[in-house]
Amino acid sequence: MLKLPGLIDPHVHVRDPGATHKEDWTTATAAALAGGFTLILAMPNTTPPITSAARLDEALEAAYAKARCDYAQFLGAGPHNGGWFFPADLPYRAAGLKMYLDSTYGDLRLDEMTLWEPHFRNWPRDWPLVVHAEKRTLAAALLFAALYERPVHIAHVSRAEEILLIRRAKEKGIPVTCEVTPHHLFLSAEDIPAIAHGHPGRGEVRPRLATPTDVQALWDNLDVIDCFATDHAPHTLEEKDGEDPPPGFPGLETALPLLLTAVSEGRLTLDALVEKMYHNPRRIFRLPEQVQTWIEVDEAARWEIRASEQYTKCNWTPFEGRQVTGRVRCVVLRGREVFRDGEVVAPPGFGYNLRETETYEDPEPLECWL
Ligand code: NCD
Ligand code: ZN
Ligand code: ZN
Repeated sequence: MLKLPGLIDPHVHVRDPGATHKEDWTTATAAALAGGFTLILAMPNTTPPITSAARLDEALEAAYAKARCDYAQFLGAGPHNGGWFFPADLPYRAAGLKMYLDSTYGDLRLDEMTLWEPHFRNWPRDWPLVVHAEKRTLAAALLFAALYERPVHIAHVSRAEEILLIRRAKEKGIPVTCEVTPHHLFLSAEDIPAIAHGHPGRGEVRPRLATPTDVQALWDNLDVIDCFATDHAPHTLEEKDGEDPPPGFPGLETALPLLLTAVSEGRLTLDALVEKMYHNPRRIFRLPEQVQTWIEVDEAARWEIRASEQYTKCNWTPFEGRQVTGRVRCVVLRGREVFRDGEVVAPPGFGYNLRETETYEDPEPLECWL
């Protein structure tokens, strides 16, 4: 049995408030624990989106009552909320700021660069700013980071041109960090027919599944990838198979088994896995240490991924039927066993909001933040 730190997923769509038929704080955090994550950062593209203090309070109320693991909630950048001075503590009550600069799900997309400017200028430069920026939009976001001299974290990098640009930007000293999802590491556009089973909507995700060359580029540049993040984006099968299917894959319960399988095949070291799923997300997102918190993993367990055994409400996975090596046996959060052999035992409300918990100490900021 292998003991690892409780994992951190910096990119989760909880869907609460507004779309609790897809997922809610209870089910998302159960899925997190079953997947070995003890801390998730929730995205702001809910209905309504989380773009103000009032909206943040509303979302957190649901989280206080329902979360089974620890969490923090992102604020979203909209066209009119770039002031970020009042109330002055608002940014620090959030996981960070999320800016949607490309095709996504929800209404938070900001196309005009004039709308980016107040956020880059006013969001505290010592607090996380995450962008969904693909291809040339990524180049523009990196230029903003350089011009405004502030760190930026790139969500779900998926293409060769993107990872190479981030490598060059890091070499030049531009303060950039990035994450990659398991689905962009383990699936390409060539897998869409097998995922779709005649329902093309099931293959829809943003960024889209890329070419095998893009996938290989991610593996070849693992040293540039700071974090693995699931971008857990649950939508029901009825929605995926209906008209105008929403983009997104669930990922909380498949990420660690897929990555442990890569470890067992010698494609990834265990140290790199822990760095990208614990140490780096903790530093980049300035998260306190979760005391007496760890997971136990059976590295040799071979099993098959099945949606019917998952806690996510969305009831499907693009990895259905895949054989993996490595299974979470036990999760301990703050000294309490919260998951054991397939059973989530943490009650709703057990999770802490780590942006409002004094008992944890603040870790050192990243070098590039100083
Ligand atoms: C996400 C969602 O459904 O909220 N969908 C996706 O395909 N990744 C939105 C996003 O992460 O851009
Ligand atoms: Zn996105
Ligand atoms: Zn996302």
